[in-house]
Amino acid sequence: MVRAQQTPGALRAAEPSPHRGEVLGEYLTGDDRVHPEDRVQKVAGIFFERPDLEAVALVREDRAVGLLTRSRLLVKLARNFGHELYARRPVTRIADLAPLALPEDTPLAAVLDRALARPAATVFDDVIAVTDSGAYVGHASVRELARQQGFALERSRLEHENALSRTRDLEELERVRARFLAHATHELRSPVSAIAVLAELIRMGCDRESLEQVRTKVPMLLRASATLRATVNDILDLSKLEAGRMDVAIGPVEVAPLVDEVAALARLLLGEKPVEVRVQVPDGLVVRSDPGKLRQMLVNLASNAAKFTDRGAITIRAAAAGGTARFAVADTGCGIRAEDLPRLFVPFGQLEDAHTKTHAGTGLGLVITRSLASLLGGRVLVESRRGEGTTFTVELPGGAHPEESP
Ligand SMILES: Nc1ncnc2c1ncn2[C@@H]1O[C@H](COP(=O)(O)OP(=O)(O)OP(=O)(O)O)[C@@H](O)[C@H]1O
Ligand SMILES: [Mg+2]
Repeated sequence: MVRAQQTPGALRAAEPSPHRGEVLGEYLTGDDRVHPEDRVQKVAGIFFERPDLEAVALVREDRAVGLLTRSRLLVKLARNFGHELYARRPVTRIADLAPLALPEDTPLAAVLDRALARPAATVFDDVIAVTDSGAYVGHASVRELARQQGFALERSRLEHENALSRTRDLEELERVRARFLAHATHELRSPVSAIAVLAELIRMGCDRESLEQVRTKVPMLLRASATLRATVNDILDLSKLEAGRMDVAIGPVEVAPLVDEVAALARLLLGEKPVEVRVQVPDGLVVRSDPGKLRQMLVNLASNAAKFTDRGAITIRAAAAGGTARFAVADTGCGIRAEDLPRLFVPFGQLEDAHTKTHAGTGLGLVITRSLASLLGGRVLVESRRGEGTTFTVELPGGAHPEESP
């Protein structure tokens, strides 16, 4: 705790610190004390030498017996014959002999209450701090205490607000996590149960030596395990992305072979549906990006297009201009209602829609795609018209690669 040995005035100039306590004893000016028998003239000399001094305490042995403020001294000396009258008298003649003296551990708010209850002329007189046994410790400027109290109030208001908003954020985060976990568990349960049932059927088929039973169930088992693996991978990717632990490996990417591969996958997913898959990529286009992540984004978009398009065409386009690479997957499928667009990028956010219900999926593909795009410094745009089709565009920095592009 700061005590009387503090340099006079040093504390008054100090800026508020968040660790500073809030009791009188911590705001004291130090040894601005005089003896009650000291002459007024001598004390006036001290005030003239020390323009920063607001008050001196009159201390006999270790007891404070009065306080003299600069303004009180000036008023007394300025009166007619004041100087002649008092100059050689003891300072007790002009000092306040009943100053406010409080224990040094009195909270600032209580000190200010007591100080401000004084008559108007003495409201801003210094307050004397005393130990439990009544010994003088120092005195403090009421103006300074009020200033500190103001800072303390402001500080605690801010801390309170911060704590509130942190709590709200944590609660929201907790809700999101709980929802995510519930959905994820639900999504994992179906393929896991399917795998368990199919494995049991296969075992029974083996027991009965029924090759037919085994032959029909094994492909189903493989499909269920592929679904499970895809979902687990998606969940892992998403948690890595959200935890900022997904690594990025940027390098030159030849776009045409990558897009061709994605188009082939879309054709496979379309099966017998009368949908043509078209590719529009400038010859020899090379961009700087992370090839694995670019592929993952395009696969997600193309598999959505294949899922939600029953006739017409899916067109995968790529282009680079002005330092930006653009990849678009356009379809002539069911489209998305304008009011549903904001929900597209919400985890497990499959739209409540007759069309969607008939299609498998977890509702993680677009969330992952958008997170990957922003990890690479880009973004995903969507344009859609219900019943006409949808175009998703991924925009990434790192347009055409200088050496390898035509
Ligand atoms: N090309 C599209 N046309 C129409 N609706 C789409 C299209 N792409 C996405 N959607 C809508 O957005 C929802 C979310 O898509 P997202 O890819 O995130 O999930 P999903 O395809 O249902 O499942 P997942 O990709 O995790 O297997 C889809 O369920 C669908 O309702
Ligand atoms: Mg999808």
